[in-house]
Amino acid sequence: MNFEMTEEHIAVRDAARDFAQNVLKPGVIERDNTQTFPTEYIKQLGELGFMGMMVDPKYGGSGMDTISYVLAMEEISKVDASTSVCMSVNNSLVCWGLETFGTEEQKQKYLVPLAKGEKIGAFCLSEPEAGSDATSQRTTAIDMGDHYLLNGTKNWITNGGTASTYLVIAQTDTDKGHKGINALIVERDMEGFIVGAKEDKLGIRGSDTHTLMFQDVKVPKENRIGEDGFGFKFAMKTLSGGRIGIASQALGIASGAYELALAYSKERKAFGKEISKHQAIAFKLADMATQIEAARLLCLKSAWLKDNKMNYDQASSMAKLYASEVAMKQTVEAVQIHGGYGFVKEYHVERLMRDAKITQIYEGTSEVQKIVISRNLLRD
Ligand code: CAA
Repeated sequence: MNFEMTEEHIAVRDAARDFAQNVLKPGVIERDNTQTFPTEYIKQLGELGFMGMMVDPKYGGSGMDTISYVLAMEEISKVDASTSVCMSVNNSLVCWGLETFGTEEQKQKYLVPLAKGEKIGAFCLSEPEAGSDATSQRTTAIDMGDHYLLNGTKNWITNGGTASTYLVIAQTDTDKGHKGINALIVERDMEGFIVGAKEDKLGIRGSDTHTLMFQDVKVPKENRIGEDGFGFKFAMKTLSGGRIGIASQALGIASGAYELALAYSKERKAFGKEISKHQAIAFKLADMATQIEAARLLCLKSAWLKDNKMNYDQASSMAKLYASEVAMKQTVEAVQIHGGYGFVKEYHVERLMRDAKITQIYEGTSEVQKIVISRNLLRD
C-alpha cells in the first residue's frame, strides 16, 4: 500500500490550491452575500482543465484520475463550496454519465463542450415528491415514436439557471416501475423548457439552484442515454461517483475551517497565552485533524477503487456519509474556536458552517447513504 502522492497529484493539488486561495478567495464573501454565480471563475476552471478532469482528452477532457479530482475538489471547497458544487456536478454526474453511457454522437455534440468547460451541465433527478425515493418519478417522457414528450417539474437543480445541457430522469412506463425510467439529454433552448425560480439558500449561496419545468418538450429519441428503461440505473451508477465529489467537497469545507481555526488559535491570546496552548482548544484541534484525515482517506480510497475499476458504491457512500458529518461537526467547532469573530462573515468560518449542511442532504441524504451501505453489507 502506497500513501505517497505522485508528482502529477502534487501538481494538480497545488494548481487547485493556488487558484482557490488567490483567485476565488478575494470575492467569496461578496458572492455569498449577493448570491452571485461565479461565471468567470467557472470559465477559468475550464481553462485549467478542471471541468472535465477525468474525461478522455479525445473528448476535450484532461484525462486525469479520480484521485486528482478528489485533491482538486478539496482545495477548491476549502475556499468556495459554491464553485466546487458546479465543478462536481459537471465532472461526476454529467461528463462521467455521458462519457460512460453516451453514444459517440452524444459525446461529440454534448460531452466535448462540457468537458472543456465551454458549457455547463445539470443533473435533474429530484422532484417535489421524489427526493430520497428516487424511483417515484412523476416527470413523464412519453414515447411518441421518433421523440419523447417530456412533462413535469424538477426541484433543487444545481446549475439549473446557468447550464446548457440537462440530463433529465423521467418515467416512460409506470407499469414497469424503475425499469420504465429513461435518462434524456435536454437542451436549454428546447421549446417548452422553463427555468423557474432561483432558490434563496442557507449555504452554497453563490451556486445556482432552480426549479425546472417541462411542458410538452419534444426530446429526440437519439437523446436517450442507454437502452429503453436504463434511466434509473444510469442515475444510481452516476450518483455513486458523484458521491466521491460531494464527499471531497465536505472534506474541503472541513479542512478549510480547520486551517482557519488552527491559524487563529496560534494568534489569538487569552489568559496570558495563545489559545492553542489551552488544552480546551488543543484537544478540539486534535479531534478536527484526526477526523478530517479519516474523511480524506475514505475519499481517496473510493477514488482509488474507481480508478482501479473495482466496485465503489459502498465506499463512496461511506466517504460521503462520514465526510459530511465531519464537515458539519468541525465547522461548528471552528466557529467556536473563533469565538465572536467566528460569528461574523469576515472570518469565513460561519460561511463554511452554513455550506457544510448541504453535504448531508444532496446526492443522497445521510440516511440514503446508510441504505446503500447497509444493503451492501447485508447482500448475500
Ligand atoms: N448501480 C447499478 N444499479 C443500481 C445501483 C447502482 N449503484 N443502485 C441501485 N441499483 C439498481 C438495483 O439493483 C435495482 O435494480 P434491479 O431491480 O434490476 O435489481 C434498482 O436499481 C432499484 O434499486 P433499489 O431497489 O435499491 O431502489 P430503491 O427504490 O430502494 O432506492 C436508494 C434506493 C438508494 C434510496 C435510491 O433511491 C437513492 O439513491 N436515492 C437518493 C437519490 C439521490 O441521491 N438524489 C440526489 C439528486 S442529484 C443531486 O443532488 C445533484 C446535485 O444537485 C448536487
